[in-house]
Amino acid sequence: MKLEILKNAKEVAVRAKEIVGGAITENPELVLGLPTGSTPEGLYRELSASTLDFSRVKTFNLDEYYPMQPTDPQSYRYFMNSHLFNNVNLDMANTHVPDGTAADPDAACTKYEEMIREAGGVDLQVLGVGRNGHIGFNEPGTPFDSPTHKTTLTANTIEANARFFRDKTEVPAHALTMGIGTILRAKKILILITGADKHEALRSLLKGKIDEAWPVTALLKHDDVIVLCDTAAYNKYYIGIDVGGTKIKAGVVSDFGEVLEETSEPTEKSGTEAHLQQIARLIADFAQRYAVTAAGIGLPGVIVSEAGQVVNCCNLPLSGVNIVNELKKRVGVSVRIDNDANCAVMAEREFGAAKDCDNVVMLTIGTGIGSGTILDGKLHRGKNGGGELGHMITHAGGKPCACGQKGCFEQYASASSLSRAVKEAAEKNPESVLVAKLKEVGPCEAVFAAAEDGCTLSKELLSNYFDELATGLKCVCNAFGPDIIVLSGGITAQGDRFLNEIKSRMAGETEVRLSGLQKRAGIIGAAMLCREDS
Ligand code: F6R
Repeated sequence: MKLEILKNAKEVAVRAKEIVGGAITENPELVLGLPTGSTPEGLYRELSASTLDFSRVKTFNLDEYYPMQPTDPQSYRYFMNSHLFNNVNLDMANTHVPDGTAADPDAACTKYEEMIREAGGVDLQVLGVGRNGHIGFNEPGTPFDSPTHKTTLTANTIEANARFFRDKTEVPAHALTMGIGTILRAKKILILITGADKHEALRSLLKGKIDEAWPVTALLKHDDVIVLCDTAAYNKYYIGIDVGGTKIKAGVVSDFGEVLEETSEPTEKSGTEAHLQQIARLIADFAQRYAVTAAGIGLPGVIVSEAGQVVNCCNLPLSGVNIVNELKKRVGVSVRIDNDANCAVMAEREFGAAKDCDNVVMLTIGTGIGSGTILDGKLHRGKNGGGELGHMITHAGGKPCACGQKGCFEQYASASSLSRAVKEAAEKNPESVLVAKLKEVGPCEAVFAAAEDGCTLSKELLSNYFDELATGLKCVCNAFGPDIIVLSGGITAQGDRFLNEIKSRMAGETEVRLSGLQKRAGIIGAAMLCREDS
């Protein structure tokens, strides 16, 4: 599949004309498959204004409403006559549109297939695509080997096509359409995709996964497809906000996970109003400069009410606040929220270390240990947002935790627990290499650097730390059986030094990887909450 991304619909039309024109010049007896709709109008204008010789070209249209008279201004025959056939030197006898008047529609469909076959098959099939991914009138769920057939339009398509009628009750409920099998038999396919409302359909195709729920993905089975799209269909931008207890990060993120711009500042915690204003200011700033319509927000410890809005957030002045409604009053874009670790794991699965894995646990190791879990391809939300693995008890009756329990995993394996242990050990061993390193860098970095320089004390501290972390990870494996565990947080910036310690303790068990997106996972995942299908 060849993809060309063009600036706008006009450029798509000009390029499409070049391709269709080139094919006609090369083969004056070309058999051309054609769509109707607003997308090809630009192409038809370009072709109508050209000096191309259509005298021996044969055309087969994809579809026609049923029942429908060809003289009806809403008919596809009427559309084709006025947008193309009457404007070029086509022989009308060589133009074919499924018969919307046929008494026996099934027989008419069989005959249409025969006529295509007799013409030698379609050489070049031009397509548009529906918002729901339909091609021709092959709605989601249509078998990919379907021949020309009578079909029932979905509510989505009736809604989309109502703009050509006085109101949607006038849109016929049925149509005759080339099947997906018919389309796939064309020797070459040219699909035109323009406008932001086609973004999801194009994305389904670019994902590269054949899926009957998205008929357009059938084209992945064909080996000669050109996709011409405009930037509006290709990409979409969302605002992602990752609210942490100390820092708030915000960015503009494309649907492909690229961060266009990002910023970070200390979290305003003096009160609910000040905090909401800070988030609103960050959103408004990006919304002013980018074409975005939605913002996603990841929050720590958030519990979303059934209505999907009310949060209970222990580290921020947001408990009981309906943040979605509050922000709606302050900014002109729609807002979605979720737990920050849920956002991060979703981002890792789509763009980072957990790409294409269906069972993933992600742990964010920082002040505490946050977690996000994907089971069988779906984000696990459970009763309280998907569980808090940092609060698994790994030491019964152990150190007290802010959550009220004793012996929580995060009391032993978070970055702050390592910092505490490092500081205590340094106090007791003032002559150690560790103490010297602590003068240069923070506790976590210092302990790794000192261990590297041979400091036995530091090696012991790290060994204890990794034993604790591995204990928790083994519990995670036993509970969920993930394909992989992804670890993130500042401490994992130690890279292989960090990973190898864990791997050696997890031998033979689940694979452990470090985050591919690191600090950006939160904003990327939050931004992806804005997708229509999320
Ligand atoms: C029409 C056809 C349809 C359209 C699709 C997009 O012949 O094949 O699949 O291509 O409904 O329509 P527009 O271009 O109007 O958005």
